[in-house]
Order: sequence, then C-alpha cells, then structure tokens
Amino acid sequence: MSRFLLAIALLAPATAMAAPGGVPELPPYQMRAAQPAGDRLQPGRDPRAVFEHSCGYCHLAGGMGTNLLTKQMMMIKRPPSDGLLTNRRDLTANYVKAVVRGGKGAMPAQTRVDLTDAELNAVAAYLAQKPAKGKK
Ligand code: HEC
Repeated sequence: MSRFLLAIALLAPATAMAAPGGVPELPPYQMRAAQPAGDRLQPGRDPRAVFEHSCGYCHLAGGMGTNLLTKQMMMIKRPPSDGLLTNRRDLTANYVKAVVRGGKGAMPAQTRVDLTDAELNAVAAYLAQKPAKGKK
C-alpha cells in the first residue's frame, strides 16, 4: 500500500508537467492559410495568398516538399535555402504549371478543384519572378 502511495506521490508532479503552457503552437506549414476571398475563376488572384493556401502545406518552411527539395538542392551543390520555391530563381511559369498539373515525383498532380487555372496562372508568375540583374 505504501508503495502505491509512493508511486502516486512520484507521478503526480510528472503528470502536472505533461503539457506546460498547453498545446504547443503549430509550425506555419501545418497552419493552412485561409483561401483568399473573391471569385476563384477570375484573373487577378493574390498570388502569395494562393501559394500559401494551395502549396504552403508542402512548400512553406518545414513542409515535406521543402524538405525534399532542400535535399535535392544540396545534392547538386546549391544552397539549402533554394529548397523553398519562393527563393528559386530558375523556375519558369510554364515549368511550374507543368509540375502542378502533371505532378512530379513525390508531388501529386493538383486538379482544377485544388486550384483553378486563374490561381495557377497567378502562382506560376509569382514563382517565376526574377530578381534585379546581378543577383545570382
Ligand atoms: C502534397 C504536397 C505538395 C503540394 C500540395 C504541392 N507540392 Fe510541389 N512538390 C512537392 C514535392 C514533394 C516536390 C518534390 C518532388 C520530387 O522531386 O520528388 C515538389 C516539387 C515541386 C516543383 C518542382 C521543383 C523542381 O526543382 O523541379 C514545383 C515547381 C512545385 N512543386 C510547385 C508547386 C506549386 C506551385 C504548388 C501549389 C499549387 C505545389 N507545388 C503543391 C509537394 C507538394
């Protein structure tokens, strides 16, 4: 009996410490950004908001797409930061569209329900943006 009480006395503080401060905050890629408001079929969608909603759960920091691409970039001696699609300077709009609609390796094809053609056009142009000349 006393051993039982001792066990309870020892366990009590441990259970109280199980979740200090409650549930930890989720990383950004697990917090799926809200879909931007407006008509999804019309041009002029906010590209960054669409990217974060439709691609972010794999392609923001910590996402599985980012992790896989970071490894691929490092294998060809490119900086690990190029694992984030938004840091890439070699993507063309047509390439992005082909990968999104057809899928590539571990990335599943995204349908017109996942993101409409208007949304894909916005995201493809956003990712194909080139920096000012002289930078990489
Ligand atoms: C379910 C997770 C997932 C989603 C959603 C996703 N991707 Fe991907 N994406 C990946 C993975 C994983 C890879 C790497 C595939 C491989 O090489 O095996 C990848 C690769 C890519 C590549 C190729 C990069 C290269 O170097 O060739 C592009 C471009 C891309 N994704 C764009 C997008 C865009 C734009 C969206 C949103 C419309 C999106 N992805 C949504 C997981 C995802």
